[in-house]
Amino acid sequence: MFRAIVPVSMIIAAISAPAFSQGIDPHALYEDRCAGCHAPHASELATEKLELRGADLITKDRGQPLDAFLQSHRRTGLSPEEIDALLAHFSAIPLSGGLYRDKCTTCHERARELARLFLVERENRIVGRYSGRDIEAFLAGHGRLDPEEKRAIVEMFARQIDNLKQSGKP
Ligand code: HEC
Ligand code: HEC
Repeated sequence: MFRAIVPVSMIIAAISAPAFSQGIDPHALYEDRCAGCHAPHASELATEKLELRGADLITKDRGQPLDAFLQSHRRTGLSPEEIDALLAHFSAIPLSGGLYRDKCTTCHERARELARLFLVERENRIVGRYSGRDIEAFLAGHGRLDPEEKRAIVEMFARQIDNLKQSGKP
């Protein structure tokens, strides 16, 4: 069955779902099944080969959703669970390409740095660490984003913050 692009919200849900964290280590998976032909780290492959369109990961050359692409790529023979694990992993990698690069990096550092330095999560909202601003509301009038782009950026920041928490960095 063809699976449509996985919305980021589902990826986020998958990351936090207990069943998900059970077996698959995306780092090991990448090393085992991808690094033989690609860059040693998933983040390098992502920067080179993937871009964000709205909230979806797209392969640069083919312009194909990563999800669909990985279902039949070079006989990697990934299971749906493995594809999900890789998708979640790739989604957490701040892409230098795409929306954020186009609209934000003229004034800001990388998204991960911005998130690390200036953003925190409070009661399921992202707020400015020092400003106390509700960032979603703030972005309605900042950075010239349409509503869909705004949602994509907020979700990206949410992943960044999650990711930083998981890696145990302040
Ligand atoms: C046997 C070698 C091989 C393995 C293993 C492999 N790839 Fe690839 N991959 C390639 C080659 C060659 C290309 C460029 C040509 C193409 O697009 O098929 C590529 C292209 C890609 C692209 C870019 C496609 C585009 O349209 O821009 C992505 C993303 C990708 N691979 C991800 C992965 C991931 C993730 C894994 C591990 C699950 C993996 N690859 C495993 C050889 C491999
Ligand atoms: C023209 C320069 C410029 C661009 C482009 C820009 N920003 Fe900003 N941004 C700023 C400045 C300056 C501030 C601090 C404003 C303030 O505190 O009143 C800021 C503040 C922020 C904050 C709030 C941090 C806090 O602690 O409250 C966030 C989040 C943010 N920007 C995200 C973005 C995103 C996402 C984009 C791209 C869509 C973007 N910015 C584009 C200049 C820019």
